[in-house]
Amino acid sequence: MARDWRPDSWRQKPIRQVPEYPDPAALAAVEARVKTFPPLVFAGECERLKTALAEAGQGRAFVLQGGDCAESFADFRADTIRDSFKVLLQMAVVLTFGAGMPVVKLGRMAGQFAKPRSSDVETQGGVTLPSYRGDIINGPAFTAEARVPDPTRMEFAYLQSAGTLNLLRAFATGGFADLHQVHRWNLDFVARSPLADRYEGLATRIDETLRFMAACGMNSDNAPQIRETAFYTSHEALLLPYEEALTRESSTHIGKTYACSAHFLWIGDRTRQSDHAHVEFLRGVANPIGMKVGPTSEPADLVRLVETLNPTNEPGRLTLISRMGAEKVDEKLPALVRAVQAAGREVVWLCDPMHGNTVTQGGYKTRSFEAILEEVRRFFDVMAAEGAIAGGVHVEMTGRDVTECTGGAHRLTAADLSANYATFCDPRLNAQQSLELAFLIAEELKAHRARPEVQPARAAQ
Ligand code: PEP
Ligand code: CO
Repeated sequence: MARDWRPDSWRQKPIRQVPEYPDPAALAAVEARVKTFPPLVFAGECERLKTALAEAGQGRAFVLQGGDCAESFADFRADTIRDSFKVLLQMAVVLTFGAGMPVVKLGRMAGQFAKPRSSDVETQGGVTLPSYRGDIINGPAFTAEARVPDPTRMEFAYLQSAGTLNLLRAFATGGFADLHQVHRWNLDFVARSPLADRYEGLATRIDETLRFMAACGMNSDNAPQIRETAFYTSHEALLLPYEEALTRESSTHIGKTYACSAHFLWIGDRTRQSDHAHVEFLRGVANPIGMKVGPTSEPADLVRLVETLNPTNEPGRLTLISRMGAEKVDEKLPALVRAVQAAGREVVWLCDPMHGNTVTQGGYKTRSFEAILEEVRRFFDVMAAEGAIAGGVHVEMTGRDVTECTGGAHRLTAADLSANYATFCDPRLNAQQSLELAFLIAEELKAHRARPEVQPARAAQ
């Protein structure tokens, strides 16, 4: 276990982005109840994910992390979960083909409820109220009552996470994710687009490959890799009373303590101060963890954080998620990558092309598909130039037909945003935009793999 660490040692540190619960006794009662709930994940799964992430860090796998910006109690339905899962499977298939390597599937799902906010308050029509901080904390309605932090929301968030994870596990291993179903993952509204033809073409090639493999004696019955997939969950570890209450010592991995609310937890860009509570909490849990790296990150500070969060330099333990904004990647990222390399630290670098590219248009928070793609491209170029590995991407997306990000093959404009703007926080790529992005990233991957400086052979050295 980490030195001088306990599941509650974060309470001695300064903390940001923390809700003020009006009734501390009610909060303590909820924490005591959640402490008795069963863990949602178990140590062996977290360790398996760590091994898969270590492969991505070496250029032998590619990570696809995606899902809602904020899950919501109102959207807790099988079709919402199923459709996001379908799109993630489609993206993964496209990337597997493009990268020619396994794709590590990591949902921002089954627990992504707590949101950091730029401002503690929100003003509408001359009325100022506390900001919405995610369904695990308060309600989205613009009323004084809804915005009061309510600790009992943690219990429903736990139950929703358990229900979501249960369905995801069933989908991943119960036949839904069988590669023979690859045509069925296409959603109806995507099926009418040119992108669908491209996807169908790929699905047909997969069918042919599966027929060939069956002729060689490999099929869903005897090759579990065809029949099932590994799917992991993740969220921002922001609400520490909840995370602490779900932290458990492992009975199978002796001496290790895991945050059992998800397989993978990350520290957000607003809460990554090295002497603060969020870093303190995550440094002591044995899960694979992540940290957002935004444009205010400084190389020396980043190296210190990397050492604190992964003192033994364990491969797959720490993922750094770059979220610079397309315009800042070239200026900010190279020095950070270089500093981590020079310090000899093992990390997995992912690109989050969403959070640095948020703008407001016509009163809607949005992101342009072009800026998102541009950030991914620049990220790949910087990684190649620095001799580092582009380990994967982190996106906010949904399987629903929303109009939250502009651009893409259907050329959504600012005027289209009002048609179906449904997010509870940041704008997400819809199913078509997600699939399109996957095809374009697959092209980038192919192009980079064709260049000698980023051949996996070198990456594995
Ligand atoms: C998020 O991932 O939803 C988020 C708030 O990101 P960041 O911490 O990078 O701003
Ligand atoms: Co977000």
